[in-house]
Formats: sequence, C-alpha cells, structure tokens
Amino acid sequence: MSVMDTMYGKDIYAPISAERIRADLEALAKFNSTPGEGVTRLPFTKEAREACEFLKERFKAAGLETYEDAIGNIIGILPGRDRNLPAIAMGSHYDTVYNGGMFDGQAGVVSALEIVRCLREQGIELERDLRIIAFNDEEGVRFHRSYLGSYGILGRDQQKDIDTYRDRDGISIREAMESWGMDADRIGEAAWDWDRICAFIELHIEQGPVLCSEGLKVGIVQSVVGFRRYMITVHGREDHSGTTPMELRKDAVDTAARVIAWMGDFARSRSDGTVATAGYLKVSPSVENIVPGSCEFSAEVRSENTESLELFTKGLKEAINAAAELCGTSFDMVEKMDISPVKLSPRLCDMLEESCLKRGLSHKRMHSGAGHDAQEIAVACETVMVFCPSRDGRSHCREEWTDFEDIACAASAAYDVILKL
Ligand code: GLV
Ligand code: MN
Ligand code: MN
Repeated sequence: MSVMDTMYGKDIYAPISAERIRADLEALAKFNSTPGEGVTRLPFTKEAREACEFLKERFKAAGLETYEDAIGNIIGILPGRDRNLPAIAMGSHYDTVYNGGMFDGQAGVVSALEIVRCLREQGIELERDLRIIAFNDEEGVRFHRSYLGSYGILGRDQQKDIDTYRDRDGISIREAMESWGMDADRIGEAAWDWDRICAFIELHIEQGPVLCSEGLKVGIVQSVVGFRRYMITVHGREDHSGTTPMELRKDAVDTAARVIAWMGDFARSRSDGTVATAGYLKVSPSVENIVPGSCEFSAEVRSENTESLELFTKGLKEAINAAAELCGTSFDMVEKMDISPVKLSPRLCDMLEESCLKRGLSHKRMHSGAGHDAQEIAVACETVMVFCPSRDGRSHCREEWTDFEDIACAASAAYDVILKL
C-alpha cells in the first residue's frame, strides 16, 4: 500500500488504486507537444498517436479485446458471461486543449481502465460486456468542431464536415486522417449498434469550482449545458492608422470589439447562468500602425436555457450587422456547433448516490457547464457522468489539478454502478 493510499484512507475507494491511476495519467501526460507549458495533444498528431499506442498496450495488458476504430477511438472490451446482453460502456477523451492539463478527459479513460483491472483482480465476471473507450477529438480545438469520436460511434453523418472544417494551417479533418493512414470515407464503420448498449458512464473532472469550494468528493451530474459556436470573419481594409479619418476607415477590429462587448453584456443580462466567450481571435495584419484589414473570431454561448441560446443567435446577428454598418465593414458568419442541453439518467444518478452513501463519500447532484461526449451519447442510451473536484475550479489551463485519490473516489462510485448493472 502506498503512502498516498494510507494517508487518505484507501478503504473508502477500494478496490480502486489511486496509485495506478496516477501512474497511467503521468505516463499519458508525456505525450505532449508543449512540455513544461501544460499538456497539448491535438487530434491526429504525433502525440495523439503515441497516446493511442500507449492506451492500446495498457488495454491489452488488462486483458481487453482491444482495437482502434475507423475514426481514431481506442476501444477495449471485457467480455461478460452473456454476450447477448446489451453492454455497459464507460470512457472519456484522450485529446486535450492547447496548454491544458493532464486530467481533462484522460482521468475518465484511465479510471475506466482501472475499473477493468479491479474487476479482473477481484475475479468478478460481469453478466454483460463492459466496453471502455478513449474518444478522439472531443475538445474540437484543432478543427473548431467537437465530438468527432463520439459522433463516430453514434453513426452521425460527418462526411461533409470532414472536408470543410480545417485547422489553423488549412489542413482538413480528412487530410489529418490521411496523415494517420486512415480512410475518411470509412468513418461510418465506427458506428455502434445502440440496441447492444444499455448504459454509458463518463467520469470527468468538474472543471469548475463547486466541489472544491464545498469540500465535496463526488459530483453526480444530472444535466449538461447546451452551446452554440460561430466563427465570424470581419472584412475591413488596411490603411494608415494615423492618416485615415474615422469616417473613411474600415476597421475590422473596431467591428469585432463591438460584437464581443455585446456578447458579454448579453450573457450577464440573462441572469440564468448563460456564459459567452470569444476565445479565438485572429487579427490581420496585427500591427500597431495599420488599420486592421481582417478579424476572425469565435462567438460561443453556453446555457441550460434553450431560450437564451436562441436569443443569443438572434442578438449576435443584429449586433454584427449594426457594427459592420457603423464601421463600413462586411462579414461572414459560419455556424460551427449547435448542441442542445441534456438531462442525464435519473436512475443512474440514483445508483451513483446510493454508492456514495454506502461508501461515505461526500457528494452532490449538479449541472455541467462544460461540454462532454456523454451529452451526445445521452440521446442513444441511458447515460450518467460522475465528477471529481478540480483544485480552485481551474481547467483548460496548465494549473488544472485533481488529486488522484479524488479520481479514485469517483471511480469507485462508477465501479459500484457497473457491478449493479
Ligand atoms: C470541452 O471541454 C468543452 O466544454 O468545450
Ligand atoms: Mn473533457
Ligand atoms: Mn476540455
């Protein structure tokens, strides 16, 4: 038994090993294009390939029937007693944002693997198959579009997006797949038969301040936020910044700034938890004494309230039209994502709660403001998420941290639910 487990009181999350979770997460964190500056593992890169090979090796070592599917998800199957029964699935994603942490997504992948190891060690044969999955491209930061891997197993038609969505260097999803030796025309083969799946569980770090500030161990997620994301390109004209009078210039940043200010004001005015972000901004040319000729920016809104999402879309169009008219610019606006808010399975929430009560794990039912593969899977089968605390609520940054013992606590609750199912 490690010092860490002894200090914490290992019994509370037995038979899960926080040490093994730590070892897997630290090993995964090495597949990183920005060492020393957070973890960056974008889809279809060298680091993602290394992570896939590592996961396949670990899945096989845990005795799983392991394969990589047609869209770059890594899947491991633990056969159950009756292979005709619909399977339980559990997992999360292996990609990261730019300069992110070693927990987002990865904690859920590694926990699913740890649960398999525990089942085998305990000599427990499940009644039904357990499929564990490490999703490709959940974050969507490379191609400005999330959920490639989960849409793949859902069998969603992504053929058009594969050619139209491109990264910052102009590489399309298709081209990125080809660089991995994959055939983008075959992504349909990744689809699962959803009559063969009875439940999906995703363990994830909270990525917000609730559990940490309230000193709680486990979050039982009842609902996940909806969001819409647009990419707007404002077309202005490059001119001398000193000699061009205000009424004659076409300033792309002046235009964008008005819209971005409107976004924040809109979200604050809703008072229903709605948030709006312009996280991506590209100005050209980005030079002090040149009127900006073009400005590309993302406009994202998230809310539990569908009405707020709709009002944002309507207001955004009005704001950009008004700003462009005032500044003498023109613009293109492309919708990148439209994801509805979802409710997760009350039955699975109850089962998680029962486990927390039995184990003495402090917990609460909560909402997720982050997007997750689970919210898309929820339309296909009974789904739940279990959260672990994020230190100071920080995530999508290099300060992201969750204690390994806290991951073990959430994993132990998921373990109990799997046994019950
Ligand atoms: C993913 O973490 C997202 O919420 O965008
Ligand atoms: Mn995530
Ligand atoms: Mn994330």
